[in-house]
Parts: sequence; C-alpha cells; structure tokens
Amino acid sequence: MPEDDREIRERVRGLIAETGRERSQLLEVLHKVQKEFRHVPRAAAEAIEQEMLVPVADTYGVVTFYDLLSEKPVGRKVLRICEDVTCSLHGAEQLAAEAERVLGPEGQPSQGGDVSWTRCACLGLCDRAPAALYDEEPLAPLAPVAIRKVGADHA
Ligand code: FES
Repeated sequence: MPEDDREIRERVRGLIAETGRERSQLLEVLHKVQKEFRHVPRAAAEAIEQEMLVPVADTYGVVTFYDLLSEKPVGRKVLRICEDVTCSLHGAEQLAAEAERVLGPEGQPSQGGDVSWTRCACLGLCDRAPAALYDEEPLAPLAPVAIRKVGADHA
C-alpha cells in the first residue's frame, strides 16, 4: 500500500487516465481506487477533484452510499453479510454475531489485514437467504460453518 499522499494522488491520476475524466466515470474510478487501496483515501478524493472536477464532498457522498466502497481500509477480502428484510428473517443477525466472534469487529481488517466483514443491503440473492458475498463470490445460504472456514483460511 502506498505510504504517502503524493504517491496515492499519482496512482489515482493513472487510474483516471486509463478510465476517463468524465464525471460519468466516477463510479468506475472509485471501484478501481477501492481495489487498489482497499478504501478511498482522502488523497484519492483530492486527486479526483483535481482531475475530474468532482468535489471531495461529492466523492464521499458516493462512497458512503455504496456498500462496496469504504472510507476506511478493509481487508484484502471482505465478507459482506446481507441484513435486509429477507435475510434478517433467516438469521442474518446471528450470522453477523458469528462473524464478529470469528473475524473481529465489523469493518476492521483482522488476521493481518487479510479479511474483514461488514453488513450490507440486499444482494439480490433473497431466494437463497441468508446471503453473503465473500471476495465478490456468493455464499448463499450462508451458514456459521462457512464463516468459521473464512476465519480458519486466514488464521
Ligand atoms: S434480502 Fe438478503 S439478499 Fe435480498
């Protein structure tokens, strides 16, 4: 991960150059930033403002709206547990409690930064509730044993 803001800005300028400077490209740029830095650092938002003319506040508006983007560093792999209505009715809160027991506090990278977990909105997998995504792959229906396996794989 880059050490300083100047390096972050430079790398983000590169991502913007390969993606496009139009405001319509903002989400794609942010996904690339998230993938590279595991979050959207302030220096990245500043580079976006300079290169794409999108105010920092607008960028963070997008970051806070989308579950797949984060203001704080997440694990290299993220377990996203749906807490929307259908999954809640199928035990999502108990699964979140198991994730906290196995992987630590929500949103904090654990196991040397390899993995973190978070709650999220509907994943479109309601017919397989309770649902989760792990490293963008569906885990549905999610069972406690799958959470323990994620933890064991990164111990
Ligand atoms: S409510 Fe959980 S996937 Fe739709």
